Amino acid sequence: MRSFLSIDTDKLPYKEYDAIVVGSGAAGLFCATKLSSIGLKVCVLTKDAADVGSTKLAQGGIAVALPKEDSPDLHFNDTLKAGAGLVKTKMARILTEEGVKRVIDLIRMGANFETDERGLLRFTKEAAHSVARIVYYRDKTGEEVERALLDSYRGDIVEFAKVKELIVKDNRCYGVIYEKNGELKALYAPVTAIATGGAAGIYLKNTNPPTSTGDGIAIALRYGAKLQDLEFIQFHPTAFCDDSECFLISEAVRGEGAIIVDEQGRRFMGDYHHLWELAPRDVVTRAIESQKKICGGNVYLDFRPIEEKGIDIFKRFPTITSKLLERGLNPKKDLIPITPVAHYYIGGIAVDSFGRSSIEGLFAVGEASCTGVHGANRLASNSLLECIVFGERTAYGMYRDFRYLKQNFSPVGVELRKKVSFTNKSYSLNEVKRIMWENVGIVRSAESLTKAIDKLSEIANSNSDWQVRNSAVLGLAIAISAMRREESRGGHYRSDFPYEREEFRKHSTFTLNDLERLI
Ligand code: FAD
Ligand code: SIN
Repeated sequence: MRSFLSIDTDKLPYKEYDAIVVGSGAAGLFCATKLSSIGLKVCVLTKDAADVGSTKLAQGGIAVALPKEDSPDLHFNDTLKAGAGLVKTKMARILTEEGVKRVIDLIRMGANFETDERGLLRFTKEAAHSVARIVYYRDKTGEEVERALLDSYRGDIVEFAKVKELIVKDNRCYGVIYEKNGELKALYAPVTAIATGGAAGIYLKNTNPPTSTGDGIAIALRYGAKLQDLEFIQFHPTAFCDDSECFLISEAVRGEGAIIVDEQGRRFMGDYHHLWELAPRDVVTRAIESQKKICGGNVYLDFRPIEEKGIDIFKRFPTITSKLLERGLNPKKDLIPITPVAHYYIGGIAVDSFGRSSIEGLFAVGEASCTGVHGANRLASNSLLECIVFGERTAYGMYRDFRYLKQNFSPVGVELRKKVSFTNKSYSLNEVKRIMWENVGIVRSAESLTKAIDKLSEIANSNSDWQVRNSAVLGLAIAISAMRREESRGGHYRSDFPYEREEFRKHSTFTLNDLERLI
């Protein structure tokens, strides 16, 4: 099973470019900007309006070893520690060392960050960082980064273009098939990058925009790319959820001094970790879940200690506080009920340090990729940094490979094989999300994962919409990977294997062969 569509690629209207980038978040735009600045004819395809994606929602900031008391070495050590034994050290060195130059590039591209009276960068703190090293812009860092990147990019961009399939022949990628206004089109190029963002959006409760459904990761899997560490999803401990939506309350709020209390008003994080509220995210997440069980009722975020330090929370966190005020909660005096939700996808398309996947001509960057830099649990605010550091490197890798791949390149007709026997049942995306949340969530077990695998394979083989089946394929791959990791590590917690096991201190990989007989 590869294609979900039954089409003859040769008959589609098509265009040719030097390079295709799928996705217009920080990763895609940074990469595309670099590619077009070195003379390649680039086309960015994006599913929604250009600025829609996780990047625009980023609140906390970008971690970078720029403060005088910091160093790339210290940032590397914090990244390693948070990653629970699975960080790829070479990649983390690249991230923390090259990160300094890339953040300066961002500033040169016009991104604003907070500065002091002398014009020097200000830094904030987030969980598991040993120093305050996060550059930020109010609680709208992502919006500012997205704006600066969109202003800098000079190539073509096609909005509302949903990429549905790759054009792959003999393990080489020739481009993509996308749908716009109900019409399918082909785009050909010697090099293509998947920058479609993460997959936390396939969970019922999440902080992500609706675009984060893991499209690029599932498509790459269907065409034979090697994926990595799929079982690792990062749950963010402090989201606010009501009946209609969940939104993030940045860790920077705790970094500035907010505390977490239980239904009895007791500050309990010290019972679980010596870093209290600034313990790694997976620890705070499970502590909240367990405290809810022990004390009953809710767990709350108390913003008042920030005000006691003389910081005006309405100015420092305008987005978060106005969302809370809209819902009748005033964080200057009210305790804010919080709950952990799916936030960041650590797993993804396995890539080398220049973004190359296992398919020739196919690259991946940003949250859709897995560089191994986050290990089993990402250090806060390291992901925008990863987008720009590996955005630059992926552009370089694409440029190098373009030079030889273009020599024997021509748009080729690749027959997309159709899966013949879909069942006649159909499902909604919400059904996938519920299965993921209930069975492949914060706490998993062989029993819950078996349930998920059964239901998701039914959906993957059903007659549902493309998006639903694609997400079900990825969900299935996540559940199988979680089943195979018989231990608890970082963001992956198994109630039936609650401890780390040394024999599992290795990356997991996943390919289409692992889905044999299931789809
Ligand atoms: P995105 O920014 O999500 O962009 C993906 C792009 O791909 C979008 O343009 C989307 O439309 C497009 N796309 C998806 N599917 C398709 C398709 N089938 N066809 C065509 N286009 C497609 N990280 C930090 O470092 N610091 C923070 O403070 C921070 N705060 C965060 C707050 C929130 C609420 C969230 C959700 C995340 C936060 N993160 C933060 C994580 C970080 O924002 C993301 O990891 C990062 O922005 C991912 O960038 P990206 O370019 O890989 O993906
Ligand atoms: C946050 O602001 O808490 C999110 C930061 C991140 O996900 O890196």
